[in-house]
Amino acid sequence: MAESAPPSAGPIPLELPAGVHQLCRCGRSRHGWICDGAHLGSGWVSRELRLDQASSVMVCGCGLSHRYPLCDGRHARSAGRRRWWRWWA
Ligand code: FES
Repeated sequence: MAESAPPSAGPIPLELPAGVHQLCRCGRSRHGWICDGAHLGSGWVSRELRLDQASSVMVCGCGLSHRYPLCDGRHARSAGRRRWWRWWA
């Protein structure tokens, strides 16, 4: 399978209101970064994010993060294998 290029080479800001959010890790959600339960049966689980106040969080646009879908700064390092490139396949 050919690997598609991600839409961004760096982090993407995501504005979220205060509260508990479930972020998509499987790439199947029809609501982008927000989990809609489509991961059921995939072996993946969403990443819970608790915010005390409305915040801008940085999601990974390079496919290298080990904290996906959140950016962990690996976009600034030398090239590596994209861990979750299927997001853009
Ligand atoms: S955008 Fe920062 S680790 Fe991917």
